[in-house]
Amino acid sequence: MAYNLLKGKKGIIFGALDSNSIAWKVAEKAHEEGASFTLTNAPIAMRMGEINKLAEQCGAVVIPADATSLEDLENLFTKSLEALGGKVDFILHSIGMSPNVRKGKDYGDLNYEWFLKTIDISALSFHKIMQIAEKKDALNEGASIVALSYIAAQKAVPGYNDMAEAKAALESIARSYGLRLGPKKIRVNTVSQSPTMTTAGKGISGFDVFVDFAEKLSPLGNASAEECADYVITLFSDLTKKVTMQNLFHDGGFSCTAISDEFIQAFYSKK
Ligand SMILES: NC(=O)c1ccc[n+]([C@@H]2O[C@H](COP(=O)([O-])OP(=O)(O)OC[C@H]3O[C@@H](n4cnc5c(N)ncnc54)[C@H](O)[C@@H]3O)[C@@H](O)[C@H]2O)c1
Repeated sequence: MAYNLLKGKKGIIFGALDSNSIAWKVAEKAHEEGASFTLTNAPIAMRMGEINKLAEQCGAVVIPADATSLEDLENLFTKSLEALGGKVDFILHSIGMSPNVRKGKDYGDLNYEWFLKTIDISALSFHKIMQIAEKKDALNEGASIVALSYIAAQKAVPGYNDMAEAKAALESIARSYGLRLGPKKIRVNTVSQSPTMTTAGKGISGFDVFVDFAEKLSPLGNASAEECADYVITLFSDLTKKVTMQNLFHDGGFSCTAISDEFIQAFYSKK
């Protein structure tokens, strides 16, 4: 059900690769809620993914950009403002990639060149996007900027590897930029989402176990990509104007649960 929460708002959505992507679901919901937006992804992902299908469905223009390239981002903002006919009201950063994870490197044997790439793609890109947006005066007063994070920023998770450091940096950038953009009434937040079966998620070793464990430990169960999109839409809407510089857990209660009855039963019921 749509509520017209984003009627008349304009945005840029990064990171829709295929229909499993969290960004894909956000784009569908933003369209349903009355927003117009441009879609962007790395040029290579565009060739592999199905973004044009989504663009057609949402009446969106697709503009390729490697989110680590300042030149690409400048071009993206220039073209987005042209296509949308004005400044933007929301931005979704839904980008993550670690060459160390992708190539199966152990945390005790990291390739540091790749570590820097992980940080650049998964965290610094968020800063770059906001820096370019600010320099180009591309954001309307009251705009809302959201990036996606994961619990491994706060608590160690085996196999999440150097992405944990990237997510910690991402959340810190949200706070620092939120402070900076506050005087313009612009909000910056991260949403820390449950493990979700997407291309990025499935790249983490033992990911199916994380999903199952989190599903069992979370009082409300895991949040789906679609539910994540619903939450992100509220953050883009005018209903959350005073929420900024937060890392908002969207995880069914996982982050606040130390142990559950189900685990006690499973481990101790025979003693
Ligand atoms: N899937 C999960 O379990 C989970 C949980 C919490 C947070 N997240 C976060 O959600 C976000 C979206 O991931 P997803 O799960 O939808 O997976 P996904 O694989 O569908 O999306 C990741 C996106 O990042 C894009 N990307 C990678 N390198 C890029 C670059 N250089 N420039 C521009 N884009 C680039 C990819 O093309 C892809 O579209 C990521 O930040 C991820 O870490 C995912």
